[in-house]
Amino acid sequence: MRWVERLFKTWLTILLCREQMSEESKDYKQKDWQRHYDENDLGWDLGQVAPPFIRLWDDGKLPLGKMLIPGCGRGHEVQFFSKNSFVVTAVDYSEGAVTYLKNALNEKNLEGRVLHQDFFSLDNSHNAFYDLVIEQTFFCAISPRQRQDYVQNVSRVLKPGGMLVGLFYHTDKEGGPPYNTTREDIEKHFSGHFKILKLEKEAHSVEQRKNREWLAILKKLDN
Ligand SMILES: C[S@@+](CC[C@H](N)C(=O)[O-])C[C@H]1O[C@@H](n2cnc3c(N)ncnc32)[C@H](O)[C@@H]1O
Repeated sequence: MRWVERLFKTWLTILLCREQMSEESKDYKQKDWQRHYDENDLGWDLGQVAPPFIRLWDDGKLPLGKMLIPGCGRGHEVQFFSKNSFVVTAVDYSEGAVTYLKNALNEKNLEGRVLHQDFFSLDNSHNAFYDLVIEQTFFCAISPRQRQDYVQNVSRVLKPGGMLVGLFYHTDKEGGPPYNTTREDIEKHFSGHFKILKLEKEAHSVEQRKNREWLAILKKLDN
């Protein structure tokens, strides 16, 4: 009987691995994102800073200091916050994004560190380094299977008591990217590592994202 059990377990493992591999093969890879830049197909790019961030800044809700912006794309937020005295580090693994952003910062005489690398492989020099992480259409760009990894990495790079301030995209659609984010997704993934200070539908989104963005203000827990 033992060998039947073993055979069944092996078969099940192979089946699960194949399923996972086929799911992974559907994920967007670096080359897929780069193709968007090559073809100037940047449907997500607002061409401006997302208005809710300007509002939060105007209202003094964002602590000045070191800021990280993962999956920064062309980096409208990077430029805005750099202009407003934050010490900004931006990360994106698409060359099209970092080249555009570096040129834009140069032309406007703005400071900012732009890293051309995978957000999930930031080295230990980033640990507890940032006061604030800004999330803008990056959480919805990664595979939902990477969400817990995202939370752990954001928590790792924040100082104790550091904040994650983000706009999370509630597409209400299957598949992606962009992958749907519900209130429950945010609560489920973040509550072990962050205190949720605010989580509500954002009222000042750009027209095409009206009623489709969660504004989340999260504070890193000391654990
Ligand atoms: C939907 S775009 C959003 C860009 C920007 N945040 C915006 O709102 O305009 C997602 C970006 O994340 C980048 N990206 C995706 N996965 C990444 C990863 N693992 N590490 C770094 N960048 C990544 C892509 O290259 C792309 O520029």
